[in-house]
Amino acid sequence: MINIREKYKQLIQFVKDAAPFNPEIALILGSGLGEFANSFVIIKSIATSEIPGYPPSTVQGHQGQIHFVDHRGKKLLLFQGRIHLYEGYHISDSVIPVELAASLGVKKLILTNAAGGINPLLNPGDLMIIQDFNTLSIKNDLVKLFGVGSPDMHDAVLNFPSKGIAEVFNSAFLDEDVETKRGIYYFTKGPSYETPAEIRMMKISGADAVGMSTAHEAIYGLVRGLDVGAISLITNYAAGISDQKLSHQEVIETADLAKVKFERLMKRIIGLL
Ligand code: HPA
Repeated sequence: MINIREKYKQLIQFVKDAAPFNPEIALILGSGLGEFANSFVIIKSIATSEIPGYPPSTVQGHQGQIHFVDHRGKKLLLFQGRIHLYEGYHISDSVIPVELAASLGVKKLILTNAAGGINPLLNPGDLMIIQDFNTLSIKNDLVKLFGVGSPDMHDAVLNFPSKGIAEVFNSAFLDEDVETKRGIYYFTKGPSYETPAEIRMMKISGADAVGMSTAHEAIYGLVRGLDVGAISLITNYAAGISDQKLSHQEVIETADLAKVKFERLMKRIIGLL
C-alpha cells in the first residue's frame, strides 16, 4: 500500500507554503471546462509546472494551474487540469489534487468531467449527477492505494454523492432550471475511446455514461474523509450509440457550448455549499 502523503511530502509542503489561505471547497475541472476558473476572483494562481514533482499535464483542454479563489467569502481551491491514468501516470499520481486538497484542510470536494452518454436519455450538453461508479478496470490499482478491504469506502459510495452535497446538487439544479439527470459512471483507463462492443457491455452492466477520470479521485476523497460529489457533462454519444466518430475535439467543442449552463450551475452549487 502506498502512503501518498509520504510519497508527495515535498510537493504538498510547497503548496502549503504558497497557499494564501486554507480552502474549504475544492473543485476539479474536467476536459474543456477549465476556462470556468477565469470567471472568478483569483487570489493566487500556481502553475503546476512550478511545483516540484507535480506531473506535467499533457492534454489539450487541461491547463495545469491551481487557483486560490474567494467567491463571495467562500474559500475555494480550483484545479484547472487533472492528472489522467491515460497519460501514463500511476494512480497515486492521479490522486495528487485530492491529496493536496485534503492536506490543505478542504472538507468538500466537487469533481467535474466530460463523459460519453450511454443511456439514450442522455444527450450532448446534459449534466448528470453521478450516483455510483463502476471501477472494475482499476480494482487492483485501488487495492495498491488503500490496502485490502476498505469497508468505509463501500458505505460511502453506496450513498454517493455525500449527504450534504447531494442536497445542494438537487437544489442547484432546480434553482437554475437545469434538468436533473442522474446515473452511473463507468470508468475506463483509456486512452482510446471505447469500441461499440465495450459500450454494449457497459450498458448491460447498468452504466449511463463513460469517462476516463473522476472515479478513483472520488473514492480517494471519500477514504480521506471528504464529502464528495461529481457531475458529468455529457459531451458526446458513446461509441455505437450514434454513427458519429469520437474525438477529443468534439468533447472540447461540446464543453464549450455548454459552458454558460455549467458555470451558472457550478456557481449556484458553490453558493449553497
Ligand atoms: N468515452 C470515454 N471518455 C470520454 C468520452 C467517451 O465517449 N467522452 C468524454 N470523455
